[in-house]
Amino acid sequence: MKVTLYLAPSLNGMITDSMLGTRFVSKSDWMRFAHLAKEYGNAVFGRKTFEDIVSAGELASLTGVKLFVATRQPISNRQRPGEHGPFVEFVSGGPKKILDLVGEQGFANCLLGGGSELNSSFASANLIDRVLVDLQPWLLGDGKPMFLPADFRVRLRLGGVRRLSDDEVQLTYEVIR
Ligand SMILES: NC(=O)c1ccc[n+]([C@@H]2O[C@H](COP(=O)([O-])OP(=O)(O)OC[C@H]3O[C@@H](n4cnc5c(N)ncnc54)[C@H](OP(=O)(O)O)[C@@H]3O)[C@@H](O)[C@H]2O)c1
Repeated sequence: MKVTLYLAPSLNGMITDSMLGTRFVSKSDWMRFAHLAKEYGNAVFGRKTFEDIVSAGELASLTGVKLFVATRQPISNRQRPGEHGPFVEFVSGGPKKILDLVGEQGFANCLLGGGSELNSSFASANLIDRVLVDLQPWLLGDGKPMFLPADFRVRLRLGGVRRLSDDEVQLTYEVIR
């Protein structure tokens, strides 16, 4: 299973802001994410990121993408049967359990969509293979970083640099094992 982490952080590495939330991320960037998720056929989110997507009314742009949502709660506390349709599955477990499920459903590649806490769980378990970073033209002083502090060190090799718009750059990094 190859895991790609996709992030749209501010230049100083924040993925959400205390006032703006994720509104600093360009609309076109969200569309790029949704497009990639459709190519992968799946995406994995932490429960808080998933709830943000739902409350922003963006779930429809992921129609047809199998979504796995990590939680530490019993599933019955988090999802009523059929609540979000058959494409959303809450998983009461960490990265390994999630990837087992993704694999069991026939996917060889997995798109990890954040947020900070879930990213740290994946990095700590050394389960990230590729990182796509779409830098957003902001410096944000009061936000959440790409990863919550945790005990991991992951070495990367730059795979590509792409100008996405006047102000946005995409960096692709491969994890060196
Ligand atoms: N700009 C960007 O690229 C970007 C990308 C993604 C997210 N975001 C933003 O980041 C923010 C959310 O990040 P966050 O760190 O607060 O939350 P998060 O990682 O999205 O979700 C945290 C929740 O996920 C579950 N979880 C996390 N790690 C787990 C593990 N190892 N095993 C089982 N469950 C686990 C827990 O759910 P329970 O509490 O249910 O147990 C936890 O409370 C949101 O504002 C979101 O919009 C921004």
